[in-house]
Amino acid sequence: MATRVQTVLLTGGSSGIGAETARLLALAGFKVYAGSRRGTVSEECAAMGNVVPVVLDVNNQESVDTAVADILVKEGHIDAVVCNAGNGIAGAVENTTVDEAKYQFETCFFGAHRVIRAVLPSMRAQKFGRIITVSSVAAVVPIPYQTFYSSAKAAVLIYTKALSLEVKGFGIQCCSILPGDTKTGFTAARKVTAESEDSSSVYYETLKKSVGRMEHDEQNGMPAGKIAGAIVKQLKKSRMASTVTPRIDYKAINLLVRLLPTKLMLWIVGKLYA
Ligand SMILES: NC(=O)c1ccc[n+]([C@@H]2O[C@H](COP(=O)([O-])OP(=O)(O)OC[C@H]3O[C@@H](n4cnc5c(N)ncnc54)[C@H](OP(=O)(O)O)[C@@H]3O)[C@@H](O)[C@H]2O)c1
Repeated sequence: MATRVQTVLLTGGSSGIGAETARLLALAGFKVYAGSRRGTVSEECAAMGNVVPVVLDVNNQESVDTAVADILVKEGHIDAVVCNAGNGIAGAVENTTVDEAKYQFETCFFGAHRVIRAVLPSMRAQKFGRIITVSSVAAVVPIPYQTFYSSAKAAVLIYTKALSLEVKGFGIQCCSILPGDTKTGFTAARKVTAESEDSSSVYYETLKKSVGRMEHDEQNGMPAGKIAGAIVKQLKKSRMASTVTPRIDYKAINLLVRLLPTKLMLWIVGKLYA
């Protein structure tokens, strides 16, 4: 019977925060199954012996179920999952089709749900589990022109909190990590909705400026190790925090958003991004 984390299933392990999380988890002695569509891990991780690359598409139920079943056959248990796989779409709300919005939720929200749902039966059976979701500061700060990203990350955050109440009686704890701007492959992978690429759109110029600023902040942001370190720290604890916002300035932003009157908070965000 598991009483501490040994085996971790991590999604989005091929790049950025996930790649660094795989490395730090392995250095800390955990066995890590690092899933991604590419199914690759860094050379350093590949050489470590306790990081196993897995082809896992969180948008595909069969892929998730197969990956989880294989790990359970090999290890007999999955003690923790880190739902980190994600992507971003940018676009004015008016210029975003429902299919494009669904694509955003598919990976960031339903992707996490697919993985969590697949591991819960075995975690419940062993009366032990740790679930970490990677949300975002954008879950609490509404980011214009990335409205669906903000919304998907807010959904992940509230899902994780509600889930923690459902599973606490089974020895399972949940935590959301809320990264601020972090320098990873996320910026280059961001997609812009088709109508938002049209220079005749009334939102075109403002969107370019707003997303350009956000991309600049990301590429000058925290190293992925800062977020990965926070994830590993939680997995080593006997009681995880409910939410963790790495770095003092982002903690302060998170707090201010909750304390300021909404109109004032929106005015400040608008000055920065709209
Ligand atoms: N960078 C930031 O500023 C920032 C801020 C707040 C939150 N976050 C969140 O942090 C998480 C990690 O992002 P990152 O910044 O490290 O970006 P990244 O370098 O682009 O990494 C994203 C990872 O997600 C994987 N992924 C994407 N779609 C997938 C799918 N359908 N199935 C499985 N894996 C998939 C990618 O691997 P494959 O392409 O190989 O599948 C990659 O390993 C995301 O949830 C993101 O929203 C990032």
